[in-house]
Amino acid sequence: MPHLPPAAPLLAWYDRHRRVLPFRSAAGGRPEPYQVWLSEVMLQQTTVAAVGPRFDRFLARFPTVEALAAAPEADVMEEWAGLGYYARARNLHACAKLVAARGGFPRDAPALRELPGIGAYTAAAVAAIAFDRPVVPVDGNVERVMARLLAETAELPGARPRLAALAEGFMADPDARARPGDFAQGLFDLGATLCTPRAPACALCPWMAACEARRQGIQEELPRKAPK
Ligand code: ADE
Repeated sequence: MPHLPPAAPLLAWYDRHRRVLPFRSAAGGRPEPYQVWLSEVMLQQTTVAAVGPRFDRFLARFPTVEALAAAPEADVMEEWAGLGYYARARNLHACAKLVAARGGFPRDAPALRELPGIGAYTAAAVAAIAFDRPVVPVDGNVERVMARLLAETAELPGARPRLAALAEGFMADPDARARPGDFAQGLFDLGATLCTPRAPACALCPWMAACEARRQGIQEELPRKAPK
């Protein structure tokens, strides 16, 4: 089992450098589950920069999960226009109806996973960010950070389950376990701003000293990807 660095430096970095994004609560307090879920579904295939304004607009039109559930399907599809992947909008609406009927979002990842349009990543993201459940959502950014930290040279997508299992190991660290939502978003922000696919800014990284890829000088070669 490779050795994970402590979570504390990442959390301290996130406290200082967290990106202020429309779908994050301004004070850093716990955000509305509806808003977390909506933003995570939008972010499945759309960039953070593109999601921002669309998120605000969507929320102005459908301020609560109940409002979204009660809206005609055509209105939801209209508001989703331009975001693409229209199955997402249909699933979003179906999910809103189920959630409104049961009186709120389920609070853990396995139950979230059963809702339409919610896969393993989104279930973990909502559970961690909205409900501080001790899970680590693994998207492409997190895969890259993990592959580099541990110098995982096996190719994606094959290495994906292993990287996800290793990331989950952070929840054994009491600092990460106390703040799963911040830990997840710290990983996202690290991957988006410092641990970038090309030319990662290792000198600014809170985990520089712990990073095995950096030690070996192979950070830019990871993660390896199977030829398509
Ligand atoms: N990508 C997906 N979810 C995100 C989040 N909550 N913050 C930043 N980037 C993300």
